[in-house]
Amino acid sequence: MRRSAARPVIIDCDPGHDDALALVLAAGDPGVRLLGVSTVAGNQTLDKTTRNALRILALAGVTDVPVAAGCDRPLVGELTVAADIHGASGLDGPDLDVPVAEVADVHGVELMRRLIVGAAEPVTLIATGPLTNVGLLLRRHPEVVPGVRRVVFMGGSTDRGNTTPYGEFNIVTDPEAADIVLRSGLPTTMIGLNVTHRALATTEIIAEFRGLGTPLGAVCAELMTYFAGTYRRVFGFAHPPVHDPIAVAAVIDPALVRTVAAPVAVELAGTYTRGATVVDLHGRTGREAAVDVAVGLEVDAFWRLLMAAVRTAGGAAR
Ligand code: RIB
Ligand code: CA
Repeated sequence: MRRSAARPVIIDCDPGHDDALALVLAAGDPGVRLLGVSTVAGNQTLDKTTRNALRILALAGVTDVPVAAGCDRPLVGELTVAADIHGASGLDGPDLDVPVAEVADVHGVELMRRLIVGAAEPVTLIATGPLTNVGLLLRRHPEVVPGVRRVVFMGGSTDRGNTTPYGEFNIVTDPEAADIVLRSGLPTTMIGLNVTHRALATTEIIAEFRGLGTPLGAVCAELMTYFAGTYRRVFGFAHPPVHDPIAVAAVIDPALVRTVAAPVAVELAGTYTRGATVVDLHGRTGREAAVDVAVGLEVDAFWRLLMAAVRTAGGAAR
């Protein structure tokens, strides 16, 4: 059931084709109030994910939301980007040469801190990239914890991975940061591949984006067309899964995503499994069931929600 009042949210992201749709959903749906955007290195280097976030927000008509660049590498180890999936720019496909706002002259973690402590009510943190910024925020500024309503992150999986056989990209990129978040004690929702792989941008969806007749609709169609090509080539998918907007949709309308409470651990030391999310769905470990793990998605309702937001953010006639 949708709430009447908009939830204040911060999105931490690594645009990224599906991050772009997450930003557009937040821009176009009245169910969330976007306080700010922090960017993180992941799909591409930090300079590129930051530039991409600015471009998408400009295209979505968002001019009053601060964007700040966060961490340019994981807490431990080196960054490995996903150029094979998102291209050299991180948003290959459309021509995104649009005037953009200035990036905030503050670190992304500091922007999150300021927005949380300054908010009139607890803020929901939506993370759609590696959890480096969120992990660092919780470590450097534990005073923000009372001001965080929930962390909703796209990452992990209750079954197989996509970057390693058992590791999903966001978690594999920074397992230590994910471990900090999962041990934080904050209410946490995990949106894993086991659910996101059900939200496929089919040719019908792409045609519907294009049919909106707006520059934003056309960009979404071109982003998904490019994404379809890389997912077909790398994973043999007929259509690309849009992982990240599901994390936003879960905040807008929690009824869209069915969750179960379960213990979730991140493997930090496994030779072949580092970055795997170990989800104890049957209570075999006796550990606290501290994470709300997504196990179901109202797929058609999700696409209606996203399409409506692209229509609204892009200024399409109703
Ligand atoms: O594994 C999918 C996730 O990794 C998505 O958030 C995608 O954008 C990449 O960041
Ligand atoms: Ca992402």
